[in-house]
Amino acid sequence: MSLSSNSTEGHASKESTEQWSWLSKLFHWATALLIFIQIPLGFYADSLRLSPFKLDVFVWHKSLGMLVLLLVAVRLLWRIKSTIPAAVAGTAGQKLLAKLAHSVMYGLMLALPLSGWLVSSATNFPVKLFWLIPLPAISGPDEALKSLASEIHEICVFALIIVLVTHIGAALWHHLYLRDNALKRMWF
Ligand code: HEM
Ligand code: HEM
Repeated sequence: MSLSSNSTEGHASKESTEQWSWLSKLFHWATALLIFIQIPLGFYADSLRLSPFKLDVFVWHKSLGMLVLLLVAVRLLWRIKSTIPAAVAGTAGQKLLAKLAHSVMYGLMLALPLSGWLVSSATNFPVKLFWLIPLPAISGPDEALKSLASEIHEICVFALIIVLVTHIGAALWHHLYLRDNALKRMWF
């Protein structure tokens, strides 16, 4: 991983074509961690009987979900601005599939919080980040819209689970079978 001679602090990784930048790695693993919490937390919150505890679990779910939205928005801006490593060796089809899976994951990480926010707004349930910061409603109360947004949220969850199984499987395949640096270059 050759760093450019004119690299300056904080920009060193921008010039590298072999490693993900430190910030890209941080974004990847922070969002991955949040997603791994969010999926079981969403199912758990949904399964509870109506109670103050259920509402508290939902505050966590909604707050962490909005954090995902914020992180992904900043991450995409950073991705546009920074130089990213070239795709690891593989057939054109494999590279295309990986690109497609990554784009779908970015799309779902935006669609999930937005549809969740819409469910809350259309149900007339305000979203308050960690009991502190109230967010504006993005729609008025609307039963039909709530059902639609809820359906979208659920479809996105299952789509994400399917893509993630493929994504993690591919990462392990590269690391354990092909023994290339695909996983290592995303690790710190
Ligand atoms: C154990 C779990 C995971 C492993 C081992 C893993 C591994 C990786 C690796 C090795 C890459 C780099 C691929 C490359 O260099 O071409 C990558 C990229 C990516 N991962 Fe993961 N990942 C995991 C979880 C997740 C999760 C939970 C998400 C979010 C839904 C996610 C979203 C992404 C995205 C969007 C990219 C593309 C980055 C870009 O092109 O900007 N990953 N992952
Ligand atoms: C990365 C972000 C998110 C993930 C992975 C996620 C995942 C889930 C899962 C697995 C469920 C249970 C299955 C289902 O009923 O759909 C769920 C339900 C729910 N989530 Fe999320 N969620 C995210 C973000 C949000 C956000 C930001 C909000 C609100 C601001 C939200 C609000 C809801 C609501 C209200 C439900 C109850 C079921 C419904 O009415 O659709 N979620 N979520």
